[in-house]
Amino acid sequence: MVDYSLPSQCQLLEQNSQLKALMTIIRAKDTSRADFIFYADRIIRLLVEEGLNHLPVVDKTVKTPTGADYNGIDFKGRICGVSIMRAGEAMEQGLRDCCRSVRIGKILIQRDEETHQPKLYYAKLPKDIESRYVLLLDPMLATGGSAMQAVQVLLDNNVREDRIIFLNLISAPEGIDAFVKRYPQIKIITGEIDGGLDDNKYIVPGVGDFGCRYFGTD
Ligand code: URA
Repeated sequence: MVDYSLPSQCQLLEQNSQLKALMTIIRAKDTSRADFIFYADRIIRLLVEEGLNHLPVVDKTVKTPTGADYNGIDFKGRICGVSIMRAGEAMEQGLRDCCRSVRIGKILIQRDEETHQPKLYYAKLPKDIESRYVLLLDPMLATGGSAMQAVQVLLDNNVREDRIIFLNLISAPEGIDAFVKRYPQIKIITGEIDGGLDDNKYIVPGVGDFGCRYFGTD
């Protein structure tokens, strides 16, 4: 990881050898598409499980087959996912694997290739999204432009800022800083933090174009 002081709103996944090995596979330029999907999916699963850790819980006691009580907890509050198209759609299955029949909205924002400014094209969200916690899905946090615009769409739909959890595999420090400055109540959960951005606003070292590698359009 780079020498970067992580804001308190941003949580890194545990930096263990398992995660490092998965990251090494998806970052290698010669990794096949099948392997890219398989190992990216494993990281996505880790991100979703960690994201779910940030939901509120209530105490719940159950009786085990031994007749004894087990003092546990139950999740309180309903969730939904919102993917930032197209790359964020790659994270939907990982969310479904953890949360059966979860509702998933979509937001399409595209970066203007010349100005690099994000533009909103489409949004379709669950009708009751204002009463839900939202797991916002986008694999790469580069400039933060698309993610910030997506958050604005959620806020315009009355989602509470402190109920948004943003999940991504790889972040650039500039993206994190811009995002937390604008939305200080949102928790970011990320897999690794890279050195920065190149002239085309790609994360370096990064993975290249995540959506193209995942969906096979490179
Ligand atoms: N989107 C990508 O797919 N890769 C980057 O490096 C930045 C944004």
